[in-house]
Amino acid sequence: MPRLDFTGRLVVVTGASSGLGREIALSLALREKAHVVVAARRRDRLEALKAEIESRSGSHAHVIAVDLGEAEGPQILFREATARGEVGALVNCAGITFYGRTLDAPMATCMQIVAVNQVATMQATMLFLRYFLDRGSGGILSVTSVSGLLPTPYQTVYSASKHAVQIFMEGLSREYRGRGVSICTFAAGSMATEMITGAGLDRKYATGSRVYLDLAKTARYALSSFKKGKLFCVPGILYKTIVVLSRLLPRRLVLSAVGHIYAPRDSRRR
Ligand SMILES: NC(=O)c1ccc[n+]([C@@H]2O[C@H](COP(=O)([O-])OP(=O)(O)OC[C@H]3O[C@@H](n4cnc5c(N)ncnc54)[C@H](OP(=O)(O)O)[C@@H]3O)[C@@H](O)[C@H]2O)c1
Repeated sequence: MPRLDFTGRLVVVTGASSGLGREIALSLALREKAHVVVAARRRDRLEALKAEIESRSGSHAHVIAVDLGEAEGPQILFREATARGEVGALVNCAGITFYGRTLDAPMATCMQIVAVNQVATMQATMLFLRYFLDRGSGGILSVTSVSGLLPTPYQTVYSASKHAVQIFMEGLSREYRGRGVSICTFAAGSMATEMITGAGLDRKYATGSRVYLDLAKTARYALSSFKKGKLFCVPGILYKTIVVLSRLLPRRLVLSAVGHIYAPRDSRRR
């Protein structure tokens, strides 16, 4: 797929108010000399990021406060982003999870995970893909997860939503190959972000644990893979090994191992 150069281009990043999305937006502006549109719900965080980017680089940052869990969210993102200038790439990074037994989560929480992680990502991708195809260039990076490559008990709805996006992106990359648009998925491993602490996963693996990837390095790796026109990549030797093993070992064994890794400390049969 085509290589990308972000210099002077406008790149839209969702989930930019914290964690990986924030790091990707910073890296795009500070290292890649791109202008950015930063999107999420928390406007105050986005305004602080805009101020940081504009004080530390020659790049412009535009803020779009939008709830991607709402039906109109992706359309609002597309309309407002393209009104700021010609968009060169989209990074889908917004995401949420729930950690625990699936039926312990309120149904609304499960549906919100599907709405934000899966439905909004698919909608935003389709809106921007048509736009990029019309121009004959562009790129879309979706942050999926190692949990989207293998069944992940205790994050089952999350894992299913990421799997759907993984398959969706790979299918699109084949349908629209040779049309000037790069389509990439970045299956991230664990990072000590608000997603982890918010879901209580830090009670299983403390945030200082070596299972967590370095956020800035991971953001840089995601962008370098995207720039090279890669279809798919996984950061870090630990997570690359897990993915390879999961393809070689019997499914039941993989399920049992991942179930063991993620079993909540207080898990009892209910
Ligand atoms: N952390 C991990 O271990 C890990 C592992 C693999 C993959 N990932 C993926 O990496 C991506 C970034 O996650 P993170 O770890 O950086 O988590 P994070 O720090 O919690 O960031 C999540 C981002 O998503 C935004 N978001 C959540 N709900 C939204 C909504 N309804 N509308 C718009 N934006 C919304 C949040 O902003 P607002 O709250 O301001 O809206 C925030 O900017 C996610 O796609 C996640 O699935 C994370």
